[in-house]
Amino acid sequence: MTDLIRFGISLEKELSKKFDKRIQREGYTNRSEAIRDLIRHDLVEQAWQEGSEIAGAVTLIYNHHKRELMNTITDIQHDFQKVIISSQHVHLDHDNCLEIIAVKGSPQEVLKLADLLKAVKGVKHGTLSMSATGKNLS
Ligand code: NI
Repeated sequence: MTDLIRFGISLEKELSKKFDKRIQREGYTNRSEAIRDLIRHDLVEQAWQEGSEIAGAVTLIYNHHKRELMNTITDIQHDFQKVIISSQHVHLDHDNCLEIIAVKGSPQEVLKLADLLKAVKGVKHGTLSMSATGKNLS
C-alpha cells in the first residue's frame, strides 16, 4: 500500500474559491484528488521537458478516397516504427477514417511523428495526446 503524507496549504480566499469552482465543474469530489492530479500533470510536463520517455496517442481524421494520402501516412509510420506501439484504423463513415496511433518514446520523436502526420495534405484533423509512462506518477 502507498504511504500517504498530509500537508496543509495556505492560499488566498479568492484563489481557493476559483479552484473549488473549477474542480467541482470537473467532477472531483475532494481537493486532495484535484491537487494530486495537478502535481501529476506537472510531473508529466517535466518529463516532456527533460526528454524522458513518454506515452501517448496520435489521432487523425482523413478521407480515405484520397489514395496518395493513405500511402503517405503509411510511409511515415514505417519510418517511425521505433516509437509506434500499435495503430488502429476505424472506418467512420463512407468517406472518413479515424486512425489512432499509440506511441511510446522520446517526446522529440513523438512530436516529430505527430507533426509530419498532421501536415499530410488531406488530413482533416490531427491531435497528439502525450502522457508519461506512469513510472513516476504514483
Ligand atoms: Ni477507413
